[in-house]
Amino acid sequence: DDTKAGVKGLIDAGITKVPKIFIHPEALENNPSNSKTTHSNFPLIDLQNVINNKKEIVKQVQEASETWGFFQVINHGIPVSILDGMLHGARRFHEQDVDIKKPYYSRDVARKVMYNCNFDLFSDKALAANWRDSLYSVMAPSPAKPEELPETCREITIEYSNQMMKLGYTLLELLSEGLSLKPNHLKEMGCAEGLGILCNYYPSCPQPELAIGTSRHADNDFFTVLLQDDIGGLQVLHKDQWVDVPPIHGTLVINIGDILQLISNDKYKSIKHRVLANKIGPRISVASFFSTGPLASSRIYGPIEELLSEDNPPKYRATTMKDFFEYSSKKGLDGNSNLSHYK
Ligand code: SIN
Ligand code: FE2
Repeated sequence: DDTKAGVKGLIDAGITKVPKIFIHPEALENNPSNSKTTHSNFPLIDLQNVINNKKEIVKQVQEASETWGFFQVINHGIPVSILDGMLHGARRFHEQDVDIKKPYYSRDVARKVMYNCNFDLFSDKALAANWRDSLYSVMAPSPAKPEELPETCREITIEYSNQMMKLGYTLLELLSEGLSLKPNHLKEMGCAEGLGILCNYYPSCPQPELAIGTSRHADNDFFTVLLQDDIGGLQVLHKDQWVDVPPIHGTLVINIGDILQLISNDKYKSIKHRVLANKIGPRISVASFFSTGPLASSRIYGPIEELLSEDNPPKYRATTMKDFFEYSSKKGLDGNSNLSHYK
């Protein structure tokens, strides 16, 4: 029953040492030489005037998706008050009384709302537990009913999701055109039919040099939109170096997921990233995962025909979403790529 108090419960209980299950090989192998603190070129794309300035914006999105697999956006159309409200809502959920959180505690992936921690500890190959607690809510295509969402973040999650859906469609247009496909190509493939919202809470960590906030992984969706507060700690593997993603208030971080890499036949890159543990906390982040809904789980995804040629043969075999999700969740966050299984 203690697990239901989450990592936050450990801090509330006053621990001063990281419990053994959190001692992570990835943290231990960290040293200043493989971690850069700043990178002036981390792509930042201004979406202002996306209609009039589309060609230039498409080019920036395409370049970033091919080289970094990541970029930040400003003037994305979601009011900053809603971003701040979402971060606050996520924090309120995690900081309320454990007894109120407990009914949401679950590891049953069929549930539309679930709160848990150390999720990857329960898969076969996890290296160690992550220093974070999470609340996951399915918001599309068959969303959790309003009354199923925790009251502490109900309204803001619904509002945020509605806004996020709109931004998702805009991003898909840019991503489609970046592949020289017609603007609605990826949308028609169902790449933004499903939306899941993950509210992460990273408590302050007494020994950040031993633990990891989120271990190295690539996302198993089409693309992800991440909202982070101003604490920082998110790092992206770029040219074999861990590069900090600078927190900039009002921006959102976009990253390409595995399935978009697969269907783009490796043009867009699903890049590994992680979150360091930190003495300073809590850190709050909210990840919006775009994928297909469960109804589309038998739909088949392979490299897009229009992108293939004699010089560019398919690099992957086609797969159903169901198979892909089953494989990647069973594999867990073991640090390896899901995609090599589909080569
Ligand atoms: C994740 O990639 O799963 C989490 C990212 C973050 O918390 O910044
Ligand atoms: Fe991620």
